[in-house]
Amino acid sequence: MAILSTGKRIWWNEPLHGKEIAWIAISILWGLVMFGAMVVWHFIGEQNLSNEAYRIEPDRFAERTQKMVDKFKVREEGKTGIPVVHPPAGSDVYILARLWEWWPILELEKGQSYRIHLSSLDWQHGFSLQPINMNIQVHPNYEMVVTMTPSQSGEFGIVCNEYCGVGHHTMVGKIYVVDKK
Ligand code: CUA
Repeated sequence: MAILSTGKRIWWNEPLHGKEIAWIAISILWGLVMFGAMVVWHFIGEQNLSNEAYRIEPDRFAERTQKMVDKFKVREEGKTGIPVVHPPAGSDVYILARLWEWWPILELEKGQSYRIHLSSLDWQHGFSLQPINMNIQVHPNYEMVVTMTPSQSGEFGIVCNEYCGVGHHTMVGKIYVVDKK
């Protein structure tokens, strides 16, 4: 038994109703408005970052991060064994994402600028700096480069805001901002 009679089952031959056309037009127009708003949000509310993006192999990114850690490690975080790195002001700084950690922990100086490189060694993660609420997608094979100038000292959390598996909720990192030494 069919819900519609045989004649009406060929619905795609029916002419479009005026209201349907109106809703389709509204959807398309709204899509275009939101597309344009991507640019507007860069200026209003500081929602979209003006980051740079480059292609990079995960192995190469891991190598660069390791090099920075070897050079500028100052201590380890508690008993976790995670290195805390104090890179020189103005330098290129690396944070890698992998299941399920942000590595290493950074110690930055207030008022200094750093080029922060972000990439993933496995799959997609979401870098979310709290409580600043700065968000950026982190993908393998690409590095996102953001220039950051911490304006307040203290402890900042990095949470992962893209679901990345069973350990997603444990994927937290940290950035310390200290007064200039
Ligand atoms: Cu990484 Cu969720």
